[in-house]
Amino acid sequence: TGAFTYDPGFTSTASCESGLTFIDGDQGVLLHRGYPIGQLAENSSFMEVSYLLLNGELPTQDELTKFENTITRHTMLHEQLATFYRGFRRDAHPMAVMCGVVGALSAFYHDSTDITDPTQRMIASHRLIAKMPTIAAMAYKYSVGQPFLYPKNDLSYTGNFLRMTFGVPAEEYEVNPVVEKALDRIFILHADHEQNASTSTVRLAGSSGANPFACIAAGIACLWGPAHGGANEAALNMLHEIGRPERIPEFIARAKDKNDPFRLMGFGHRVYKNYDPRATVMQKTVREVFAALNVSDPVFEVALQLEEMALKDDYFVEKKLFPNVDFYSGVILSAIGFPTTMFTALFALARTVGWVAQWNEMISDPEQKIGRPRQLYTGPTQRDYVPVSQR
Ligand code: CMC
Repeated sequence: TGAFTYDPGFTSTASCESGLTFIDGDQGVLLHRGYPIGQLAENSSFMEVSYLLLNGELPTQDELTKFENTITRHTMLHEQLATFYRGFRRDAHPMAVMCGVVGALSAFYHDSTDITDPTQRMIASHRLIAKMPTIAAMAYKYSVGQPFLYPKNDLSYTGNFLRMTFGVPAEEYEVNPVVEKALDRIFILHADHEQNASTSTVRLAGSSGANPFACIAAGIACLWGPAHGGANEAALNMLHEIGRPERIPEFIARAKDKNDPFRLMGFGHRVYKNYDPRATVMQKTVREVFAALNVSDPVFEVALQLEEMALKDDYFVEKKLFPNVDFYSGVILSAIGFPTTMFTALFALARTVGWVAQWNEMISDPEQKIGRPRQLYTGPTQRDYVPVSQR
């Protein structure tokens, strides 16, 4: 009963007011607090963008130094959490591990879970941003059977993550500055994206007043899906499956075939009906990383040619399907040395900033209510119970 607007997939429902991120999908524009993503990716750092998203303005040098020190102070995980990892199978997907470990943080940090207190909310936010690299790196280390590395506080946020992932206790790890910059940029490109599925999940979970660490675990669970953050892993797997440029037409034909569930992964977007501005930066970054590491990868050529052919094809033109952020990111991450299973974990690490910023914005909104959608009921009308002997 009741008159509700039915809007499957929420294609035309604004779930909240937000001052964080603006997207013009037709023009391919993405702004964080008004700043174009291209300018932030080129000139800023992930820590600076994190500050911007959380606090509304770019930091002064003093504010940035203080923020970086605060994040650095929270990078360690409670030692007992190392034991928690050992409960997972070695071949567990890092996203499964991240979901579990981040959810488990809710049992460790009771002094930052009074969500009515803005100071506690900020401490929880800082803890989450700071601990995600440690958690993700430990998920990787566990999967390859290497010892966990503690954070090293004289490194940058991203340099520290690289060392915890690829370093070993037996030798010094030298952070490659080009790789560090490229990964930091990838984090910037993933930091926030208005009311996407995982952010909406975090908001909905948080709207009941739930524990912040548990809310972020819910966001991680949602992000994992191949239609969302899982697409970066799926895109690189697809490029490997295609293997060589001659096979591209076969895959384009499959993507167009209504009877084949196959889609071009890393293509298409609910909001962008133009080139995803994040994909532009990503494509440029591939070249920088290849040059710095003196490597190349035949899948990059496959990706470039696939993009070129798809963008000339009527099907993709009419449906306005363009490469999205996930199309080229895997090529870079793979060149840096990450296995495909870590790709979505890196997305989760970076998106944590957007999640906590959106969660803070929601909780401090005086209009905030529990999220409680209605439905159009399609089941049976009222009927009487029939005892089992008479059915
Ligand atoms: N390959 C082939 N056809 C596609 C694709 C694709 N990648 N994406 C959309 N279409 C077609 C789809 O079949 C549909 O055709 P029709 O109208 O004839 O039924 C039409 O385009 C519209 O698609 P939709 O699924 O109704 O659109 P949506 O807004 O619900 O979905 C999407 C958006 C991103 C889930 C979808 O484009 C997709 O599945 N892309 C592949 C997965 C991917 O790259 N996801 C990452 C998104 S960006 C980063 C992130 O969110 O994490």
